[in-house]
Amino acid sequence: MPRVISCINGPTLNLLGEREPEIYGAMSLKDIGDLLSEEAKAFALTVEMKQSNSEGQLVDWLQDARKNAAGVILNAAAYSHTSIALHDVLRTLDIPVIEVHLSNLAAREEFRSTNYISPVVKGSIAGLGPTGYVLALKALATLIPSN
Ligand code: DQA
Repeated sequence: MPRVISCINGPTLNLLGEREPEIYGAMSLKDIGDLLSEEAKAFALTVEMKQSNSEGQLVDWLQDARKNAAGVILNAAAYSHTSIALHDVLRTLDIPVIEVHLSNLAAREEFRSTNYISPVVKGSIAGLGPTGYVLALKALATLIPSN
């Protein structure tokens, strides 16, 4: 089993740091990736950061992770609230997937309370900003086999 964690990020997360910083914070997605890569060393894991605004690309990356990754950190962003395609592909993965949201969905607009991702992942973390990504990585390190 490869010791690779695929960290898959959905629409408009490429604008982290510029986008509504009062909600999503000041760190860019690259900053979060650098933080994850540093933390991953302690677990002999490698993190591959990916971001796309396209739903189909996220489906393709999850299909790829199914074969080539040991675990997934997924922030599907707005597609969390709409995407049956992501729900369906997640049902095919046997590796652990941890869902992350920077903001606390439960404290936001009503439409964010619909979530097609949460029922088909190992666990979800929301509202802790970039720390949520680090906690997801630590959780995955306990869940995946240690070669
Ligand atoms: C988000 C929350 C989603 O509701 C929103 O559409 C995003 C970001 C978060 O990380 O808090 O784009 O996933």
